Amino acid sequence: MYRFFIVLLRVTDLKVNKSSAPPNLIFMEWIPIFNSTEEVRLKLRENAPYLIRVQGKAICVVLRQQLLYAFENKCSHNGEALHKGSVNYLGEIVCPWHGYRFNIKTGRECAERCRDLETFPIEEREDGLFLFL
Ligand code: FES
Repeated sequence: MYRFFIVLLRVTDLKVNKSSAPPNLIFMEWIPIFNSTEEVRLKLRENAPYLIRVQGKAICVVLRQQLLYAFENKCSHNGEALHKGSVNYLGEIVCPWHGYRFNIKTGRECAERCRDLETFPIEEREDGLFLFL
């Protein structure tokens, strides 16, 4: 019989200074991507993939039915840039190269032919929209 132990650690419990942290320790944080929802409405069109760069990482964002979704821009099949693709009526990003489809909310590849996309939460605050990376 196996026993599993789960250790819960609050973010505030972490007392690690980034500069002294081991190089393999990964830090995630909320990063501002838009100043306001107005900026989102000005820059993005409904269901039109849009490329942003966050800390050197290419992220594709899609505005769909008043919600903003973010996922890695690189197709997990063969690396095509997904912001060049389109969003179909089911809310899937369709890769322009071979047509693989990924759910923009979950990142799931619709026919399980390759790995799912990494998705990123977005949070709206008084001072803008932030992406967790
Ligand atoms: S590179 Fe995206 S489907 Fe092949």
